[in-house]
Amino acid sequence: MATLRIAEHIAAGISDLEALAGVAGCDAQALHSVLNYLVSKGVFEATGRGQFGLNDAARGLLDPTARIGLDLDGIGGRMAYTWSTLLTYVRTGQPAYQEVFGLPFWEDLDAHPDIAASFDALMGPAGHGTPDPEILVAGDWATVRTVVDVGGGTGALLAEILRVHPTIQGTLVDLPRTVSRSGEIFRAAGVADRVTTIGQSFFDPLPAGADVYVLAKVINDWPDRESTAILRRCAEAASPGGRVVVLGGVAPDDARPGLSVEMVLAGGKQRSVAQFGELARAAGLHVQAAERLPSGRFVVECRPTSP
Ligand SMILES: C[S@@+](CC[C@H](N)C(=O)[O-])C[C@H]1O[C@@H](n2cnc3c(N)ncnc32)[C@H](O)[C@@H]1O
Repeated sequence: MATLRIAEHIAAGISDLEALAGVAGCDAQALHSVLNYLVSKGVFEATGRGQFGLNDAARGLLDPTARIGLDLDGIGGRMAYTWSTLLTYVRTGQPAYQEVFGLPFWEDLDAHPDIAASFDALMGPAGHGTPDPEILVAGDWATVRTVVDVGGGTGALLAEILRVHPTIQGTLVDLPRTVSRSGEIFRAAGVADRVTTIGQSFFDPLPAGADVYVLAKVINDWPDRESTAILRRCAEAASPGGRVVVLGGVAPDDARPGLSVEMVLAGGKQRSVAQFGELARAAGLHVQAAERLPSGRFVVECRPTSP
């Protein structure tokens, strides 16, 4: 119903089943069955013979944020249908996204600009809200002049960091299509004049010499080999005086390993601090601190290992 925008059509004044099916481009009988089912579950109201209205639950479908994740024609569908590959994932330990979509996840996004755009929207403020800019274990921003957000999406976290720290300069690194969508986010935060955007792969050399390299919700998307390669690029760029701050995908050693969609989608991993420490070492980093922030997020700070 989210994909067919049925709640929006009802909100616009179309309550008759035939008219709803016409405007949504679907089969009236099938739509009737689904709406009756949802009414029985407390979503939508039957207001008369073949007439439907909104109740509070159905009004939830009008929220654009909810729709990004529920729209089966966008990233919501990619994530939902991915779960049908869970059995292969468990049997093999490898993602089987291509069984459903023909290509591995990142290549599928490359091949479908509309899906890639909805993924960026889901990761950005429209989907995940405004991020908390406090990402340093000791809150020691006074020594930080430059921040590079690696795989920083459309820039929501970097924009917040620069907004609350008016002397810091930032660089956003992500794929070209994604950084191209960052302009409005930096303008809205009033920080556009302190940001450089670079559309490139994080498997290629990163801009060198910054004080902080952020990897937020990035290495949890990748298997060990690729995660180590990304960390190595950060270590090379940060060396000798910078640090690498990792948010997402690392949990305390005593946490129970959970299941997340990134695993099934792209072979991502959740790692304990000990497991992460091994990758960091192989990448030329050592873990300096690993703690839970007041926001509830678990953060790991690393420094380049001295040559
Ligand atoms: C899960 S999102 C996280 C985005 C952002 N850091 C956040 O916290 O919301 C992962 C990001 O990695 C980016 N990405 C994937 N492959 C990449 C590559 N090869 N080079 C650079 N960025 C890449 C995606 O475009 C996406 O923005």
